[in-house]
Amino acid sequence: MEESQGFAPPGSPPGSPSSSSESATPPPPRPVSARFASDNTAGVHPAVLAAIAAANASTAPSYGLDAVTSRAVALLRAHFGTAVEVAFALTGTAANIIALAALLRPHEAALCATTAHILTDEAGTPERFLGSKLVGIPTPDGRLTVPLLSAATWPPDDPHRPVPRAVSLAQPTELGTVYSLESLREIASWTHANDMLLHVDGARLSNAAVSLDVDLSAFAACGIDVLTFGGTKNGALGAEAVVFLNPSLATPRHHLQKQAMQLTSKMRFVAAQLAALLEDDLWRTNAKQANTTASALSTAASALPGVTMAHPTQSNAVFATIPPESAAHLHETYAFEWHPPSSTARWMTAFDTTLSEVRAFADSLKSSLPD
Ligand SMILES: Cc1ncc(COP(=O)(O)O)c(C=O)c1O
Repeated sequence: MEESQGFAPPGSPPGSPSSSSESATPPPPRPVSARFASDNTAGVHPAVLAAIAAANASTAPSYGLDAVTSRAVALLRAHFGTAVEVAFALTGTAANIIALAALLRPHEAALCATTAHILTDEAGTPERFLGSKLVGIPTPDGRLTVPLLSAATWPPDDPHRPVPRAVSLAQPTELGTVYSLESLREIASWTHANDMLLHVDGARLSNAAVSLDVDLSAFAACGIDVLTFGGTKNGALGAEAVVFLNPSLATPRHHLQKQAMQLTSKMRFVAAQLAALLEDDLWRTNAKQANTTASALSTAASALPGVTMAHPTQSNAVFATIPPESAAHLHETYAFEWHPPSSTARWMTAFDTTLSEVRAFADSLKSSLPD
């Protein structure tokens, strides 16, 4: 039998009939909501769609030589510094590849957390395209620290091992935790003192900035060599920027972009999305909405018996440990990641998540919990 998409009112046991009358026409299956499954399940912000439409008004030079791309680069320079170099990409994975390609040669390695997206969720793309090794370091909450890095690194002159050349961290981390500016500065100093370079995966950098209540420029002052600035999870259709804060690393950036298959000919449509997010600080408004609703969900969930937070909620991801039967029940209505045996669930909010959606979800969670 095809697996049910979960028509059962919250609170009823899995498989229970959804209608009181055998003879009545059964209601159509209710789709499982993807609302809290990921921030990628959200649509596109109307201002971004409008910017794409505006960029469609006429012809324009291709491969990034157009006015919209220049505008997006200027906006990124206004946020991250006038000297930065920029390359655009369609996906976060590609942006990470372009960034890391600027830092690593095939005999070199990057240190990252074992939970890093580049290590666990990019299907080996960095290894395939860069030929470089990624070395995962276990962390308690997704965040690397100088002591963890010091303990994990090795001498660069051992010919049997790759040369440790880069540190890669995600801000926020894949567990929703956020590095303080001070810890970023400490990691950057350690990295440079050890003849290495620092990459920051900023697929959700806007959420981190809102969490820390800082401007994007604050990250530029931490000693990061190259970061990605994610648009997609912030309301874009598919647009990411690689920002070379250390512009000397960006010399072949168009070649890196081309080899990563991201030198898209109609670049203006990618650039238009990022320009829309950067204009009037829409990035901040969107990230604020996502973080606020995550915080509300975290507060509501942690007040329920049997629910504990697996990690502090510092951005737009909520990691909660819930009873397994509750996860099974809740999955009838909502899709989300859930990891046995820890029984940790991941709920994510986005720029368009509302507080009433959070309340409805918290009510379903409450009903799913065993008495
Ligand atoms: C931290 C982080 N980096 C990078 C990515 C990659 O983004 P994409 O799926 O667009 O390649 C993701 C996607 O979820 C992510 O969470």
